[in-house]
Amino acid sequence: MKIEARTFRISGYPDFFAKDHMTVDIDAPRAEGDYVVFPGFCDVHVHLREPGFSYKETILTGSKAAAHGGYTTVCAMPNLKPVPDSFEHLNEELDIIKRDAVIDVLPYGAITIGELGKEHADLEGMAPYVCAFSDDGKGVQSDEMMKAAMYRAKALGRIIAAHCEDETLLHGGYIHEGIYAKEHGHAGISSASEWKQIERDLILAKETGCAYHVCHISTKESVELIRQAKRDGVNVSCETGPHYLVMDENDLQEDGRFRMNPPLRAKEDREALLAGIIDGTIDMIATDHAPHSAEEKAKGLPGSAFGIVGIETAFPVLYTKLVKENIITLEHLVSLMTVKPRERFGLPCGDSWCVWDLNKEYVIDPAEFLSMGKATPFAGWNVSGECLLTVHNGRTVYRKTGK
Ligand code: DOR
Repeated sequence: MKIEARTFRISGYPDFFAKDHMTVDIDAPRAEGDYVVFPGFCDVHVHLREPGFSYKETILTGSKAAAHGGYTTVCAMPNLKPVPDSFEHLNEELDIIKRDAVIDVLPYGAITIGELGKEHADLEGMAPYVCAFSDDGKGVQSDEMMKAAMYRAKALGRIIAAHCEDETLLHGGYIHEGIYAKEHGHAGISSASEWKQIERDLILAKETGCAYHVCHISTKESVELIRQAKRDGVNVSCETGPHYLVMDENDLQEDGRFRMNPPLRAKEDREALLAGIIDGTIDMIATDHAPHSAEEKAKGLPGSAFGIVGIETAFPVLYTKLVKENIITLEHLVSLMTVKPRERFGLPCGDSWCVWDLNKEYVIDPAEFLSMGKATPFAGWNVSGECLLTVHNGRTVYRKTGK
């Protein structure tokens, strides 16, 4: 049935974003619906697990899950088998993307061969086909390696997106080194393991002039370092994940769905991240959608794999917790989820959009996810905002059916 949905005025986006309303055809409209059309969301940090780990997720299931979350562009991290560290290895991933992706899936190329931090990957050979370079899942430990990679990426006009983690400061931890870890006898990951490497990289980014992006920041020190670096003119951007903005160590449960890297930090860290969102230090929100099998996530906090799914819950969680609670405006959220990441990574929107009913309230149930991964700390949360339709380059890639 055809309904009138309001749109956001955003310059540089498809023509209908210059208008106030748009007529859309959706299934099962509701009398009390508040229908809004957004440009397709863009997530610069997802794990789609192919090639190599298709028992966790595939390009097909992951891209369908993304479409369900309102996304029409995602950037896929390179911790795969084989790692995309040469054109030949990357081409295996590109072939699957060409065959199966229902939205734009842009691969990252690795910074180092096998993400092992020892030798540079073939950045030049991969540059035309990748959105940026990253060794996500691991920090680049060697200063010299990172510096030389930055020079090469700069010459290629590509971003280095860094997972910052100094392995000498991990101490075998798997949740934040804070109150919860102490009280429950868990090994903690220090905040310094993240911010020390950001501190190093900001010096290198300044020296090399490389466009540098920090993945999933989680600590208050990281926010302050990046805030200062921006003031200092460093070409730096950063992302954080929805979970770091709406949860902290006080929300931890003895369950693998609360284990991710970086971990949920302290209340002061969450507050600093929110301040960073509000003042623009944090440029974008990325989910770090990291699906694993049920078995891999069933070993509690000490034994489960790091990573949670997030692409199907990001908008409803953030709309409910940040917009409805008046922490940021809806315009700001849309900017963080599509405008800013597209600008920074040079990813056009095309004729791609999603329609949401902001009035629809429901309980998050992982059984309804299209992702093969079901582990989320948001299971059971009451949220508002349901995706009804996602269109990518004129083609419907998600449609809500039923009530
Ligand atoms: O929680 C995480 N999961 N953090 C990472 O750095 C990697 C990711 C994954 O690939 O599962």
